[in-house]
Amino acid sequence: MFNFDFYNPTRIVFGKDRLVSLEQLVPANANILITFGGGSAKKSGLMDKVKEALGSRKVLEFGGIEPNPRYETLIKAADVVREEGIDFLLAVGGGSVIDGTKFISLASNYSGEPSDLLKFGFIPIPLDVVGKAIPIGTVLTLPGTGSEMNTGAVISYENGKYPVMSGLTFPKFSILDPTITYTLPKIQAANGIIDTFVHTTEQYLTYPVNGLLQDRFAEGILLTLIEIGLKSVDEPGNYDVRANHVWCATLALNGLIGAGVPQDWATHMIGHELTAMFGIDHAQTLAIVLPSMLEVRRDKKRAKLLQYADRVWNIQTGSEDEKIDLAIQKTREFFESLGVKTRLSEYGVSADKIPDVVEQLKVHRMAVLSETQDLTLNISQKILENAM
Ligand code: NZQ
Ligand code: ZN
Repeated sequence: MFNFDFYNPTRIVFGKDRLVSLEQLVPANANILITFGGGSAKKSGLMDKVKEALGSRKVLEFGGIEPNPRYETLIKAADVVREEGIDFLLAVGGGSVIDGTKFISLASNYSGEPSDLLKFGFIPIPLDVVGKAIPIGTVLTLPGTGSEMNTGAVISYENGKYPVMSGLTFPKFSILDPTITYTLPKIQAANGIIDTFVHTTEQYLTYPVNGLLQDRFAEGILLTLIEIGLKSVDEPGNYDVRANHVWCATLALNGLIGAGVPQDWATHMIGHELTAMFGIDHAQTLAIVLPSMLEVRRDKKRAKLLQYADRVWNIQTGSEDEKIDLAIQKTREFFESLGVKTRLSEYGVSADKIPDVVEQLKVHRMAVLSETQDLTLNISQKILENAM
């Protein structure tokens, strides 16, 4: 097990009818900007409930944060924060709204060119660049990214998706009310299950470092997702199922299962380019890339793939390679069972576009990836070709 620090200050407020907690959670004299997306939070009546719970506090709204939140939209919100003296941000939405709000929080305290903040990659933005951030709270409407309990954000700018990390952007609190997710379209519920699944495999399907407990945490999340995944898609009003979906998503990317173990993230980096170039939903890019990644990288990941086959898919017979083949096949079948296609060609992308994707990986400094930092561009090319 590697050395690690584990720190996560986000208060989680979980369960039914928890919006009333906003009264205690948001300072009484706060000057609040509620951020939201394209309208689902308004249509469902959630925004009205949030504003009612905020009582007589001063509240402004900023809507229109897109899926894959765009830089140009977010800097407009940062201008509102500065002009109106906003001192609290409340994100009501999924990963895009929460990520966008984290960027707004930082950009509104940065005197330079806000696009500078996109240049740090996975390195947390130094405090001498942005030394303070507007406090954030979230009301989660789509369980999948884990953004409600981490410091990460992914911002779309020009033709790329850029990670933005800062120790200052842990939400102060996140309200995780499973009933708020009931209005999710099936495909978004499926996306959330798959994004959570792949966050877990990015921190688990690597190589053994005797992280016995982390492995069991990860296997517990994967087994739970397999057990409830299709029900969460088909039974949106099933509280017990959605409650587990929500909690799996949060714990898959809040630092817990990744503490002290190797982490891959190559599936995500290749997936980000597919979203940026072809507009494919984030989780669907992962459903395309992961099975192919595991096939191409089976020797690097052999020990953990065999453990995955045994503990997650209960594959007990066959040679090592037969067990690995079957585990990868079951992974692909699981994604397909949720209604998500796993072949790049099924999203209208032709093989002749693959060199352009590889070129974008190079432009975005993603030429060496994975837990062993040896996944070069030609291997990325092979993974994409194998995913056609
Ligand atoms: O915009 P609204 O009206 O809210 O509609 C959204 C959007 O159209 C809709 N939706 C969300 N909650 C709903 C709902 N519709 C009905 N009822 C509800 N309760 O769903 C659509 C997708 O929402 P979005 O927030 O874009 O989805 P998701 O939560 O999957 O977030 C995806 C973004 O998160 C980033 C991705 O790159 C992508 O930009 N990620 C963030 C991570 C992080 N911060 O740790 C890690 C992830 O790997 C990921 O990269
Ligand atoms: Zn993800």
